[in-house]
Amino acid sequence: MQLNKLKQYNGLFLSFEGLDGSGKTTQISKTKEWLESKNWNVMVLREPGGTVFGEKLRSAILETQEDIDPLAQAMLFASSRAQLLSKKILPFLSNKNHCVILDRYIDSSIAYQGYAAGLGMETITQLHSYSPLNQMPDLTFYLEINLETSLSRQSSRGEDKDYFEKNDTAFYQKLELGYKECCKVFSERIKVINAIQDIENVFKDIKQDLNDYIV
Ligand code: TYD
Repeated sequence: MQLNKLKQYNGLFLSFEGLDGSGKTTQISKTKEWLESKNWNVMVLREPGGTVFGEKLRSAILETQEDIDPLAQAMLFASSRAQLLSKKILPFLSNKNHCVILDRYIDSSIAYQGYAAGLGMETITQLHSYSPLNQMPDLTFYLEINLETSLSRQSSRGEDKDYFEKNDTAFYQKLELGYKECCKVFSERIKVINAIQDIENVFKDIKQDLNDYIV
């Protein structure tokens, strides 16, 4: 699986991935605080969204009542991502000691559109062979929880469900498989973190992996 990694940035580029309820938001904010305490400038962004155009695409996809074709989904997420890269991520990362933390990135497209929606990993990676989408993070944290934990954490939240959260268990099983494949194929970039542990131990594991990158 070839993804063109011609790195066009100087700073540190991190992404977080995981099933719903894996604790991404908590760990992202702990990582941000920790890096800031070490004098890094940190920008946290979420996908889809993060730009005015991207937020419009976010509402377009997450609030839709209509079934969306998988390729249409993939292109929409890629469109939001390309805008975010060229307007925010790459300009910010042109500086040293600057870090972008992304809540979801290419691995979400592979797991959701590639696997769960059935488009295939290859279509997603091909889309990401074009600049600026060919910019991969230095490091991705996959916060791993099992499906049962994800589903029970989701139901205990009791929030309104978005387009993807309305799916059935079969969809989530394919999603989990997609993430497992990503972890295998991109094992150099993706660090698998046991996210069933308590918050502090999850963060301890993240810090351990990060230490190599922040010297
Ligand atoms: P969000 O509310 O940000 O979800 P979460 O809090 O779980 O991160 O909504 C983003 C939704 O979009 C989420 O269900 C995953 C989905 N998604 C894709 O299907 N493909 C993608 O490439 C991305 C970035 C997100």
